[in-house]
Amino acid sequence: MPESIVILTGAGVSAESGLGTFRDTGGIWDQYSLEDVATPEGFARNPALVHDFYNARREHAAQARPNAAHEALARLERHLRGRVTLVTQNIDGLHERAGSRQVYPMHGRVDQAVCAACAHRWPAPSKLSTQTACPACGQNTCRPDVVWFGEMPYYLDEIEQALQRATQLVVIGTSGTVYPAAGFVEVASHLGAHTVEINLARSEASDAFNRVIEGPASEAVPAWVEEVLGK
Ligand code: OAD
Repeated sequence: MPESIVILTGAGVSAESGLGTFRDTGGIWDQYSLEDVATPEGFARNPALVHDFYNARREHAAQARPNAAHEALARLERHLRGRVTLVTQNIDGLHERAGSRQVYPMHGRVDQAVCAACAHRWPAPSKLSTQTACPACGQNTCRPDVVWFGEMPYYLDEIEQALQRATQLVVIGTSGTVYPAAGFVEVASHLGAHTVEINLARSEASDAFNRVIEGPASEAVPAWVEEVLGK
């Protein structure tokens, strides 16, 4: 069977691009209440607060640059054309900017907007607000095109298909606490794939992997990619 690699990334892959992680000490969920800014109920209660939160994250993502980990994953895809699927929980768009093409941003993209009334999608302006009119239907029902807790992640069918044919699953820079992404290692293991975790430090999920590589993504990911391409 030809090699087919599924890669799942989380906030840790963008940490060295200057974007904060969620659950590390001083992380985003130390500064904001998840219920207030990352749930449909929080948006219904206080949409202005949620817009402010994502407007700031959009600005930070736009200012950030892909790091050596994003670049190495794009290089891997170029060398193993058609055999690498990149699934990311990140909304920052850095994998795409590094040159990865086969990317499933399962939690959406902060640089996209969606209309809650008519489902039209378009590139988000630098600031969304409760006054932003949908370019398609004209209503002030715009939101960032991101997935909140309690909502269905995107691309689940495509991800499921990729996991079904995966010979290897590599999980990079995620705490492994948010489902369904946290369950991918069990699915892949059950189907017989080799599983690798790359993280700054062992995570809650480490015991589920065949191999754990500890280190900063900007060093550990390029080293792993060289290992794969050198084979
Ligand atoms: P977390 O903040 O939960 O976890 C980040 C992980 O990255 C931790 O395991 C860190 O050890 C690791 N890490 C930090 N710096 C690193 C580095 N330089 N190199 C390698 N690893 C590093 O972030 P996620 O797992 O991505 O969802 O969080 C998952 C989801 O929870 C997010 O997509 C978001 C969040 O709430 C929604 O908002 C729906």
